[in-house]
Amino acid sequence: KNTVTGTLSCQSPSNIALVKYWGKHGEQLPQNASVSFTLTNCHTKTTLEFSPKTSKGFDFTVYLDGKKEQSFEPKIKTFFNRIVSYVPFIEAYRFIIRTTNSFPHSSGIASSASGMSALAMCIVSMEDLLLSEDISDTYKKQKASFLARLGSGSASRSIEGPLVVWGAHSNIDGSSDLFGTIYPKHIHKNFTNYKDTILLVDKGEKQVSSTVGHDLMHNHPYSAERFKEANNNLTKLISIFENGALSEFIKIVESEALQLHAMMMTSQPYFILMKPNTLEIINRIWSFRKKTKSMVCFTLDAGANVHVLYPENETEIVSEFIKKELTPFCKNGDYIEDVVGLGSKLI
Ligand code: PMV
Repeated sequence: KNTVTGTLSCQSPSNIALVKYWGKHGEQLPQNASVSFTLTNCHTKTTLEFSPKTSKGFDFTVYLDGKKEQSFEPKIKTFFNRIVSYVPFIEAYRFIIRTTNSFPHSSGIASSASGMSALAMCIVSMEDLLLSEDISDTYKKQKASFLARLGSGSASRSIEGPLVVWGAHSNIDGSSDLFGTIYPKHIHKNFTNYKDTILLVDKGEKQVSSTVGHDLMHNHPYSAERFKEANNNLTKLISIFENGALSEFIKIVESEALQLHAMMMTSQPYFILMKPNTLEIINRIWSFRKKTKSMVCFTLDAGANVHVLYPENETEIVSEFIKKELTPFCKNGDYIEDVVGLGSKLI
């Protein structure tokens, strides 16, 4: 049916990887399995307005915070080209895409996971409207994750929560390279409502895009070992999620963050995304842990910002520590308090 005009809105969060995805092949397929906490407060809201058209090709306009944003067009065009064979109706509609992020645009927080997953959710919800038969919620979410992956690999892990695996892993039933799946095994209560405070160390544009970073893993001297190590770390996390051993969790999560950055430092060309304040913060977290026996730890994305992870029952003590000792290393003292959440929703 090529007759429906309408509007749909979705809200989708960012996510933070515990085992990192860095290196891909084929059509946005990961070289290793990864697992992430889905976040809540860092999210994108996207509204898709659609009306039928007869002209050939894609037709869309993008607005960010109410202002026309032409710089997003190439990325969305590439995305549409990748997904059109799975959602062919997108060629028959003209779209107005209105998007807003809950976090500041120049905060250095990547909006690709939340942005691409929100758009993918909108498109799958639109398909649901156009089709005469009902499609199950499970199928819709799987398809949304599949499409989101084609926009940005890590976006495949933002559709659901609280813990999502993307990439086929021999010890995790149902895991796939094609879409993210909810972590299917037992999760100890220590991980319930896990907190993530994101310290905004550097808000500038990334010097190296993640596309370039993934590409540099192709001729990387340590790539094969890295992909093995990631899969092994995910295996280790299975028993940690089961028994709640936070001290073991910390060892894996911090090592994964440093391995991600070690891959950047050892590629050709090499690059460093951490800033002096990133290291200051890491050292202070380590001293605090030694002093207090707190289970606070850090992880990093492809940038200088630090994600400070801690269990819910440490909220008070860790928040105080962050405010007093860590925020002086943030740009303008800025940080975002977040908590693990459940993924995208239609609004
Ligand atoms: O989703 P991409 O292609 O922007 O890759 C990002 C990968 C990291 O954020 C650095 C790690 C991860 O697993 O999220």
